[in-house]
Amino acid sequence: MPRAAPRTLIPPQPGARGGTSHGALRLPGRGGVTAPGPGGASGAVALPPRLRRAATGIETPFVYEFDRGMEPFSPPEPGFPAEKSSSVPQRKYRVLVGVTGSVAALKLPLLIAELLKITGLEVKVVTTERAKHFYNAQEIPVTLYSDEDEWQLWKSRSDPVLHIELRRWADLMLVAPLDANTLAKLANGICDNLLTCVIRAWDLSKPLLFCPAMNTAMWEHPITAQQVEQLKSFGYTEIPCVVKKLVCGDEGRGAMAEVWTIVESVKRILEERDLPTQS
Ligand SMILES: Cc1cc2nc3c(=O)[nH]c(=O)nc-3n(C[C@H](O)[C@H](O)[C@H](O)COP(=O)(O)O)c2cc1C
Repeated sequence: MPRAAPRTLIPPQPGARGGTSHGALRLPGRGGVTAPGPGGASGAVALPPRLRRAATGIETPFVYEFDRGMEPFSPPEPGFPAEKSSSVPQRKYRVLVGVTGSVAALKLPLLIAELLKITGLEVKVVTTERAKHFYNAQEIPVTLYSDEDEWQLWKSRSDPVLHIELRRWADLMLVAPLDANTLAKLANGICDNLLTCVIRAWDLSKPLLFCPAMNTAMWEHPITAQQVEQLKSFGYTEIPCVVKKLVCGDEGRGAMAEVWTIVESVKRILEERDLPTQS
């Protein structure tokens, strides 16, 4: 499969933003329990083909059944417009969100809430340890994975390796925010945590979007541009940072793109690839 050309997404204008719709929520994240979506819909979701995950309780979510022979049945998502609720089940599109230790990780709950408004999207999150400092896991209504889960899951040869299962599961990866540290790791192939292992093993035929976020001084250091170019040369898509008054008080480029810009970029990529989205 040919690689995508290096690219930077130029965000659409705010007026181009679509309306809202429902998305089935998965609650709570680590329990793998499904719950009604905002429209009162049942939260039943299609299980991934290779990874049939049995929700076994809040503290032991990582029980997997492998079913390599059969595609699981995906019922039409409740709440689809009539033309979409045909006998052909609507395909779920799986987005894996990576979050790193930038202050912009404060926006993770909002980002996830907005992504879940896109019909047909299933979302999971992979976090670095530093990123955990910036958001409340209770506010993340999808499955959230971190380094501990990777090592808890694997006990013996027959156990699945979480970073490989996640790279198989995901159709699209969105790293938001991408801090300077993880940017440097990704540009150099370093893989010392769950997030960087998923990306090190990424299937380059699938889209990967990244949203840099850092202090202006870090952004302006010449190594940043080199590393961003390196990521784009892999076929990853940059969602550029913006000029803003930063939390540290400095004003300048380096702030993560606005959440609506990021969500519109995800929708655009899905549409470009002819994948179903409505919101
Ligand atoms: C309050 C605070 C805010 C930070 N914000 C940023 C940021 O916006 N961008 C960045 O590149 N690093 C930022 N850092 C530094 C990163 O958290 C640090 O480099 C960390 O090692 C990143 O780890 P990770 O890439 O594994 O998540 C911040 C640190 C602190 C303490």
